[in-house]
Amino acid sequence: MKIGIDRIAFATSNQFVDMAELAHARHEDPNKYLIGIGQKKMAVIPPTQDIVTLAASAAKKVLGPEERDHLGMIMFATESAVDNSKSAAAPLIRLLDLDPHVRVAELKQACYTGTAGLQLAKGQIALHPEQVVLVIAADIARYGLDTPGEPTQGGGAVAMTVRVNPRILALEDDAAVVTKDIMDFWRPFGCDAAFVDGKYSTEVYLDFLADTFAHYQKMNGRTLDDFAALLFHLPFTKLGLKGLRQLIADADPKVGARLAQQFEAAREYGSQVGNLYTGSLYLSLISLLENSTTLRAGDRIGLYSYGSGAEGEFYSGILQPGFAAQFTTKPTGQALASRKQVSVPEYEKLYDAAVHGPAECVLNADDDPADFVFTGVHNHIRQYEHREN
Ligand code: COA
Repeated sequence: MKIGIDRIAFATSNQFVDMAELAHARHEDPNKYLIGIGQKKMAVIPPTQDIVTLAASAAKKVLGPEERDHLGMIMFATESAVDNSKSAAAPLIRLLDLDPHVRVAELKQACYTGTAGLQLAKGQIALHPEQVVLVIAADIARYGLDTPGEPTQGGGAVAMTVRVNPRILALEDDAAVVTKDIMDFWRPFGCDAAFVDGKYSTEVYLDFLADTFAHYQKMNGRTLDDFAALLFHLPFTKLGLKGLRQLIADADPKVGARLAQQFEAAREYGSQVGNLYTGSLYLSLISLLENSTTLRAGDRIGLYSYGSGAEGEFYSGILQPGFAAQFTTKPTGQALASRKQVSVPEYEKLYDAAVHGPAECVLNADDDPADFVFTGVHNHIRQYEHREN
């Protein structure tokens, strides 16, 4: 039975800051951000958006009547939770007007759990082939103004439906996983920005890639030539490039050149959005499918998922006939191209206005064109609205 990703969509805010402008403001050479880190633009998330509203916007795009009729489970992957108890999936039932007879849960292991959600969805569908599972990976990456991590912020949500006979990517039963107790990135209770040891995090990311890929090869007997493209978790796109270079260092130059060409297509949208933690690997999948011109049905795609703390997984999927139909109009590329640019002072103001913790506040969402908005907090309860724009 083939099980995998049937539909996929992305949502972020309607505004970005230019990385060359941010570099000038921080007295850095723009090429450090553009080339050294690999980022051209960074999504600026207004206070009226959070993981719930971003997730609702992405999920609305993949839930047609058929998906709604068969929805059995929602797995919500995030490391920017808005509540210590309640899953961010629960408000989606009301906001998206879903049948409430559905199992929901929120998953946490840094940037890794979009992949955990997909693998759990695969198990659920194996037991209940009539169902559809919605997997959401939504985050807002915050490190703080004028910190080394600042140019690797961003935010957004990827929504995917998983079912039998998927139209995009059938997941293979071949995952290699590694988990160790490591402190490369963490966010203690009460902190709205993450602590990160960026250099150490890079080392662990690359070590786990070597470990999981070697384990994957041992289990499955495949070589780099078996992959049409390799995708990486992209907290900043230069890190994926480091991963690719590590894997292809001793490869046949023709294979290396092919994988390097596909990587450029796969990193385009990440370079225009920034980090979205759990969703970064899956935004890279969208970027590959919208921007590569050489992929064919039957091609194998390798995916490297990483979450600090730390967990890594390498697995693969096979592109399905007709996969290109959902991407020919480049819906994500068009949405990214229509965003408006904000200045560095405007971005800083929006960063400081983010709401963390007050029992009461009212937010004016008149300037936010999104269908789903966060309008404030009343009696410690977050207030969400679904507006038809
Ligand atoms: N032109 C081109 N490249 C330049 C440059 C210039 N003018 N100036 C610097 N660079 C390069 C550096 O050589 C370096 O490249 P390398 O990593 O290939 O050596 C890169 O730009 C970054 O420079 P660096 O001095 O290391 O930057 P930094 O100390 O400000 O930190 C990060 C960069 C990525 C470590 C930091 O942004 C961070 O911690 N981000 C968060 C990391 C993260 O998300 N971790 C968790 C997820 S896995």
